[in-house]
Amino acid sequence: MATTVNCDMLNENVMEKQTIYRVYPSKEILAEAFAGELARSIIKTAGRKAPFTLALSGGSTPVLLFEVLAEKYSKAVDWSKVKIFWVDERCVPPEDPESNYGMTRRLLLDKINIPSANVFRMRGEDEPLSEAARYSEVIASNTRTRNNLPYFDTVLLGMGEDGHTASIFPGNAKLLHSRKICDTALHPATKQKRVTLTGKVINNAKSVAFIVTGNAKSVIVDMIYTRKGAAKIYPAAHIRSVSGVTIWLLDEDAGKFIK
Ligand code: 6PG
Repeated sequence: MATTVNCDMLNENVMEKQTIYRVYPSKEILAEAFAGELARSIIKTAGRKAPFTLALSGGSTPVLLFEVLAEKYSKAVDWSKVKIFWVDERCVPPEDPESNYGMTRRLLLDKINIPSANVFRMRGEDEPLSEAARYSEVIASNTRTRNNLPYFDTVLLGMGEDGHTASIFPGNAKLLHSRKICDTALHPATKQKRVTLTGKVINNAKSVAFIVTGNAKSVIVDMIYTRKGAAKIYPAAHIRSVSGVTIWLLDEDAGKFIK
């Protein structure tokens, strides 16, 4: 079904820290497989007191995943045991076609039985700096803590064709090292204002899952996979769970150089 390459199996005292690359025959098969894996991760924690904390990215890549989750896991998963957050948001109202929350609401949230109290949207319609501060508080109050940082069970990421992830764009490395939980950003091309999780918080997650598809991203994926020095200009190259699993889920186009 998929080719799995385990990298970074580190020494025994951090055995669980690893980076995995999986290449699937198609983005559809990838979405089906990861939806099942995510559902199983949530079900596994059902007996735990703390809800499963899931931070979602937007863009076009997660569309298939959200559709599979809504179609096949609306009943299999007890969504009342899940808290949903966003990795980033465009600074637009929720009804705007650009809204990551709006897209997730349409494709997933309206089709699963999740209490509204478990859905923590970034308020794209509000002033970015104050929203980044507000949302930082929301995250701090609704997630577990580890290493004095919010500790998400899973953070789902995409990667842009410029190697950005979340709304951490090339040239904005300060967001990778910021002490803030959330900060503001500007899309370099469209100048669209964004609110985003910062790199430290993403890297503190128990599981970081990149979903990357399409030919256009294959060269950057390969540079990150082979740890080329030049890859450090890409924010996605700096994302790796500090103590958990980082998994790159690729279709054959994006993963065509992965041996
Ligand atoms: C966003 C996302 C962003 C996205 C990448 C990839 O708000 O756009 O959070 O980080 O994951 O830009 O976007 P595509 O999935 O559309 O290629």
